[in-house]
Amino acid sequence: MGTSSFHQSLLISMAVLATMVGAAIGGNFYHDFDLTWGGQRAKIFGGGQLLSLSLDKTSGSGFQSKKEYLFGRIDMQLKLVAGNSAGTVTAYYVLSSQGATHDEIDFEFLGNVSGDPYILHTNVFTQGKGNREQQFYLWFDPTKNFHTYSIIWKPQHITFLVDNTPIRVFNNAENRGVPFPKNQAMRLYSSLWNADDWATRGGLVKADWSKAPFTAYYRNFQVTPVSSSRSRSSGGAFASGDWQSNALDANSRRRLRWVQRNFMIYNYCTDLKRFPQGLPTECK
Ligand SMILES: *[C@@H]1O[C@H](CO)[C@@H](O)[C@H](O)[C@H]1NC(C)=O
Repeated sequence: MGTSSFHQSLLISMAVLATMVGAAIGGNFYHDFDLTWGGQRAKIFGGGQLLSLSLDKTSGSGFQSKKEYLFGRIDMQLKLVAGNSAGTVTAYYVLSSQGATHDEIDFEFLGNVSGDPYILHTNVFTQGKGNREQQFYLWFDPTKNFHTYSIIWKPQHITFLVDNTPIRVFNNAENRGVPFPKNQAMRLYSSLWNADDWATRGGLVKADWSKAPFTAYYRNFQVTPVSSSRSRSSGGAFASGDWQSNALDANSRRRLRWVQRNFMIYNYCTDLKRFPQGLPTECK
């Protein structure tokens, strides 16, 4: 075998391996998503294993899943716009068909000037009603590496996770009259856009277009259905099969408290000024 054909077969086996690994850990962006906004600013590359969105002065960009999901766990790894990302918003959310009674579960990453922290903004809409914001700083720089952002959507609760640490739980409070998303399937969407009228320090800091294009990266998308059987392994991490359980285990509850104590910067559930008539029912 000559050197070049050896290289060739090595390349081929690496490609086959990459495809197999890709299939094992996540989907393929070509199969799972449509690039829907921003023309060439949205790109799939690396054989379908990577996706990037860019924002320049003219436009942002976005993509959406081909499929709709009704319950499940959705994981995606994101590496956010690095450097001076002030004014940019990277939104990553699931949404039912749009309309007055839509359901929606949101992650939004509000950029910042170099060295200042991003804000992770979350919200839950049920039957068209949102106003359920919680905001967090992250305990790492989300622009240096990929991190996993997950939504667990089950009939009992919605859990937001960052690197398998639960940061927010929205419990089903239908028995107290609060609608819960459970009848409308949702699609996954993501977009990168200019929101410098409000995003960074409430709109005080504008996007620096001399640094454009701004780019965010995506990989390892995965959707896991909620298992119908109630049996599961015990002793594992929330990361493995245990998220299927209906209650957070002790370790996950401890992590959730740690995040909420140290990194939560806004919680609608404690904003009495905003809700002078009383806090929303699900907060009690
Ligand atoms: C940006 O940094 C400032 C200063 O540290 C901080 O007050 C703000 O919360 C940060 N995030 C955003 C999105 O403005």
